This record gives sequence, structure tokens and C-alpha cells, in this order.
Amino acid sequence: MCGIVGAVAQRDVSSILIEGLRRLEYRGYDSAGIALIDDNKLQRFRALGKVNELAVKVNPNQAGAIGIAHTRWATHGVPSENNAHPHFSRQKIALVHNGIIENYKDIRTKLLADGYEFESETDTETVAHLIESYFDGDLLAAVQKAVDQLEGTFGLGVIVSDDPNTLVACRKGSPLVVGLGIKENFVASDVSALLPVTNRFIYLEEGDLVVISQNDYQVYDANGEAKELTINTTELSADAINKGNYKHYMLKEIHEQAKAVADCLEGRISENNVLDSVFGPESERIFKQVEQIQIVACGTSYHAGYVAKYWIEELLGRPCAIEVASEFRYRQSVVPKDTLFVTLSQSGETADTLAALRNLPMEDYCGSVSICNVPESSLVRESSLVLMTRAGPEIGVASTKAFTTQLVSLLLLAISIGKVRSMDKTIISDIVRELIALPRQIESLLFLDKQIEAIAENFIDKHHALFLGRGVHYPIAMEGALKLKEISYIHAEAYPAGELKHGPLALVDAEMPVVVVTPNDGLLEKLHSNMQEVKARGGKLYVFAHQGAKLEEPGEDVVVEMDCETRWTTPILSTIPLQLLSYYVAVQRGTDVDQPRNLAKSVTVE
Ligand code: F6R
Repeated sequence: MCGIVGAVAQRDVSSILIEGLRRLEYRGYDSAGIALIDDNKLQRFRALGKVNELAVKVNPNQAGAIGIAHTRWATHGVPSENNAHPHFSRQKIALVHNGIIENYKDIRTKLLADGYEFESETDTETVAHLIESYFDGDLLAAVQKAVDQLEGTFGLGVIVSDDPNTLVACRKGSPLVVGLGIKENFVASDVSALLPVTNRFIYLEEGDLVVISQNDYQVYDANGEAKELTINTTELSADAINKGNYKHYMLKEIHEQAKAVADCLEGRISENNVLDSVFGPESERIFKQVEQIQIVACGTSYHAGYVAKYWIEELLGRPCAIEVASEFRYRQSVVPKDTLFVTLSQSGETADTLAALRNLPMEDYCGSVSICNVPESSLVRESSLVLMTRAGPEIGVASTKAFTTQLVSLLLLAISIGKVRSMDKTIISDIVRELIALPRQIESLLFLDKQIEAIAENFIDKHHALFLGRGVHYPIAMEGALKLKEISYIHAEAYPAGELKHGPLALVDAEMPVVVVTPNDGLLEKLHSNMQEVKARGGKLYVFAHQGAKLEEPGEDVVVEMDCETRWTTPILSTIPLQLLSYYVAVQRGTDVDQPRNLAKSVTVE
């Protein structure tokens, strides 16, 4: 999604802004731009494509001590230089925007009648002109008046040509942080953009506006009242967000999973139990009331929730429903008494997931829990109970370590609820023992790297792939298919293996790779029968077999053996080879692994 960086300093800020944009590249974008004020004149550089293409366009002689910059992920209007931000109004106002202005057409019609000329197809340009129409020397007042008229979600950064020491920014639905330096201040969509210049941040709240200058800043609420917000010091270092010796962030993040899982567990478990109150002091009271659970999430996080449905119903004997946030938020759902609402999100900024939480009739629920990876995110700040997944920054658009740590967190949730409802202590200690062994087992699965890289060659010229799973491995198959399609652009579908004969079997022929994870569980026999159905139609099987779950007559099938004996953590382990498979297929097809086309890391618009 779009990214904003802004700076006011005593030095030239162009390199700070470009570096900030580079650090926001992971969010996904199609064009980029920067505006500076030099000698009371607005200067602008924009480019279609990558930030590097923008960087070569920026005139090295063009200095500016104030500026705003943007990476655009197209919503209104095609990706093009003309539609790229910053947008200007009458060479006076420059503006960058994240989000969507829903009522922009009405405002545009009125502005056209007032003589404003539009150069782009964007909703954003409307806001630049609207602010200009209110500007009479006070930028904050003009932004406030404009914002009062806007419907939708947005983060804005605005400068005006004849005031090179004032930048106004605001947030409504789109995250925005203020970075505090020494005689220089900044704004950005997230802290990672500003780590080279500061570690002190203020997280703006919904509806807030901020005015920043070189030596000062002031935050205002939506009613224009001045307010104080806490200054936070982040422990993230500028180096935490680099690829190290890996070719891609995704590969680095796949390999970080053993550590991420260990970090997720640290201080939360003993040798045979989950510690009390890992979900906070209020959790015991709420968990005692829980009769059923509703999980809401998007994409990969939704798949994690789907796995948890199987775990929770088996472990707690309570109904657990899972739904994608974009559906849940707009329908009338029936909420039985004492339902716990659970949101899952890597970023904590996913618009649909946040809206589902914000619109919740809380009186119908006994509480809400969020499992999230970004401590400063909106989701974390707005949820009553929270568990941080501690996966560390995830930069690759395709979620990997965020998923496995979400699964670990969901097991911690199931046990934490089970504990206060007299869950069998032997089962709890079995699960905890498996969790303790998990980092080491993940490390050992990563040694399959080379074998999977070789297998990936078989997928290079394929257009479609099927992923099959049964039981708790059905959502793992869904996650495997999502990973493959999003980074290699091969059409991949997941099916519960038992559904094969109800339709998808018609697709199976020698050109259709069929990927199956075979856990050694009670459904193994059934799964083997489904695999025979594929073989009988000439389909090619790629089998990731857990210990004791090998095919008796593999024949032409490609089999990767996974040497772990587990019960509860099996789906977490099964994920690792599927991530590696999609990674190597994408690398061999030459796609942009870390920033796949059309996708964004943090989906802050609905
Ligand atoms: C896929 C992927 C997306 C996200 C989805 C939700 O690899 O990363 O499907 O899982 O956009 O994002 P979060 O978890 O940040 O709410």
C-alpha cells in the first residue's frame, strides 16, 4: 500500500526522503514521487516503477530543507507518472495521501466549477485543491477544514510553498507516525522509514492532525484541541531491516522462523504449561466466560485462524467460527452469548480486519483478543487483550514467519482458555513439549532447501497447480496454494482432498502438479486413497510426507520426507517446505519475489 515520508530539517532532506521510500518499498507500490520547497518554490520529481528510478531523476543540485515523498499503490487511476504523488494545487500546495477518498467525485465537481484544473485521475488531487481553496495563510486551518469534508480513510502530508518550516499531517484510518529528531522532525507511514534518522516516535491516533517544524511539533485531535501523546523509543535498529546475506527478504524470513518461534515462546511457557496471564491480567476473567470463539482475519492470517478452528474445537470442545474480515464486517452475524472475538493480523493495519473490530457490538461479546506482529499498530492499540507474535519485521510481501508465529500464538491461546476451564493437564504438557521442540525441528526442515529447489524446476512451465489436504492440513494446503500463486503467478487452488471427486478431479492430467502434505494422522488412509485417484488420472504427485506417512508405492511421485514425529505442531512444520517450494518456483520463474505485482504488504484500504 502507499507509503508517506515527510521531513522538516536544517539540512537538505531529499536523501532522507528517498531512503525513507526505499524502506517502505516492502509495502508494495507502482510509482513514487517527492516534492521539496526550494527558495519558496515547489519542486517535484516523479517516476513510474521503483524508487531507484525516482532517485536517478532527483536533481542533485536541488536542495530543500522541507519535503514530502510517496510510494503509490494505484486505486483511482492507472499507475502513471501523472497519477503519482505528490499532487500540487496551483503551484502552492503539495500533498501526499494514503487511502481512499470516497466522496471525491462530488468535491471534484464543485472544484471544477470554481475553476480548478485537474492533471490526474486520482482522488488525491481533489484534496490538494480543496486545501488550496481554504488556504489563507494558515495551513493547519485549511487542512482541518478540508478534512472535515472528506469521507473515507486517509493519511495526509501537506506543505505549502511560501512556508518552508511547516508540514501538516493527519490520519483517519491510515497509520501515521511522527519521528522526533534534533532540530528536525519527520512523519511517515511506519517507523521503518525513519530508523536511520531517529528512534523516537509518536503514534498518531484516529482523527489526529499534527503540525511539525524544525524545532517543534503539536498534535491536535479531530475537534482541533491541542493534545499530548506519549513519546516512544523503538528498539528496532536501522539494520534490522536488511536482507543480510540472503538474496530475498522472503528467504531470510523463512530461515528466521526457528528464532521467531523461540522468541514467540520466550517467557510464556514453562516446561509443561503456558504461564498465567500471557494474554494480560484481564484474560483469566474473560477466558472463564468463553463459550465459543469467532476468528476474523484476511489472507494468510485467515489461514492461521482456520487451522486454529480445528485445534480449538478439538481441544476445548467449543464451537469456533472463522471468517474473512471483508465478509464479516458487512454482514449481520448471529452471535451466541459469551463469544470471544479474535483478530489475527501481521501488520495490525489491515483495513477490513480493523473495521471488523471497530464495528463490533462489544456488548454481544465477552471480550476481544488480537494476535499481531507490530506492537505500534492500530489493532494492538484498539484491542482489549493482545498477544504479540514477536516474529520481528516481515518485509517480504508473502507472509512466512508471521504465519508460523501466529499458529504458535493460537496454540497458546487455546491452552490459556483451556487452563481456566480445566483442560486435561497431560494434553497441555504434550503440546508445550512439542512447542519447545519446534524451533529445532524447523531448523532441521530447512535442510530440505536444496532438494526442494531441485523439485521446483518441475513447476517452471506450469500454469496451474492443485494443493490437497485433509483436516487441519486443509488450511495448510490453502496457505501453500496462496504462497505459490502470489509470488510465482501460477494459478494454484487448494481443496480438501475428499472434495476431489466432486469436481476438481476433472482438471487432473499429466500437466497438473498436485501437491499434498501427508501427516501421519487418523486421516492418512483416506488421504492415500485420494492420492490414488490423482495417480489413476495421470496426475503428478508432489508429496511432503511426515514420518510414518510415506506412500507404499511411490512410483513416479516426487516424495520429500519430513523427519518429525509430532501431533499438535504438525501443521506448523508442514508449512516450511511449502514456503520453500513457492519461493524456489518464483525465483526460477524470475518474478519479483519480495514485491510481487499488484500486491501490497500492509493493506490499509478495503
Ligand atoms: C499473503 C499475505 C496476505 C496477508 C493479508 C493480511 O502472503 O501476506 O494475504 O496475510 O493481507 O495481512 P495482515 O496479516 O497484515 O492483516
